[in-house]
Amino acid sequence: MTKRARAGKRIGGIEGTTRVVGIFGDPVDHSLSPRMHNAAFRALGLDYVYVPFRPAKQTIGAAVEAIRALGLIGVNVTVPFKGDVIPHLDHVSETARAAASVNTIVDRNGKLFGDNTDVPGFSAALAAAGFRARGKRVLVIGAGGAARGVVHALLEGGAAEVVVSNRTRSHAAGLANAFATDAARIRVVTLDALVDTAFLATRQLVVNSTSVGLHGGDFLEYAARSTPPTCVHFDLAYREGLTPFLKLARAARRPLIDGRHMLLHQGAVAFRLFTGKKPPIDVMARAIGISAKDRA
Ligand code: ATR
Repeated sequence: MTKRARAGKRIGGIEGTTRVVGIFGDPVDHSLSPRMHNAAFRALGLDYVYVPFRPAKQTIGAAVEAIRALGLIGVNVTVPFKGDVIPHLDHVSETARAAASVNTIVDRNGKLFGDNTDVPGFSAALAAAGFRARGKRVLVIGAGGAARGVVHALLEGGAAEVVVSNRTRSHAAGLANAFATDAARIRVVTLDALVDTAFLATRQLVVNSTSVGLHGGDFLEYAARSTPPTCVHFDLAYREGLTPFLKLARAARRPLIDGRHMLLHQGAVAFRLFTGKKPPIDVMARAIGISAKDRA
């Protein structure tokens, strides 16, 4: 029997030896991360299992402590806990600090390390689509926690200018303040920018970080056709079919990247942190419905 076959036999079920990785989120039932990571564990014959947890906001500290108490390998962290977990960790990476957001926690010899794989995941999703941030002019719609990670990734990647368009100007100004040392490359505007033809004509990438329209209704008023034909449109969110933002971009025949690509690439970085092994990215992509054609 080959090594793979022996491992495959064991991985049918959970044994006394099985190690646990989790995800903390609320809600968490829609998450594709368990499917993606369990497929990857099976493909590599690893005796690991990935399970969802839904802690209450007031118990998040106890939930983080449980990683250590129960000997979990680690967890991913999703909405709304990415900031809340930070005070409960022993170490937080520089990237996670810059993004003010931890989406991956690993227990290393009893010490809890917090990291942010959304930032490199975003950059990897862009790279996989053949887009280089260096020298580019970008529009980021929204100024919440997800936007902050994106702005960090874009500035790190050498973007020439990042314009943040947001409903509440003070929120966007707060985000810009967090990158004060890069003040020359970041600018804050209102949502009027989304219909400003002359401005949109200068963009090479538009990233939507809001959830507008995801639970029904339309996206914001946005003149996608005013962007150049090659302007890439990236929605951090995903759902069955296209998001309302990407529907506008598709109607304008602009290149699209959907949030599953972000999920894939942040998951690949997290997989390496959990297992120390090279992530089987094709297996992970298939598990969340990204076809080989979509990745070409
Ligand atoms: P996340 O942490 O996932 O980024 P968030 O912090 O709630 O989520 O941020 C949501 C973003 O979507 C914010 O920029 C928010 O704008 P405000 O700063 O004005 O609140 C934006 N957003 C949410 N609903 C919106 C709507 N109906 N119209 C315009 N912007 C909206």
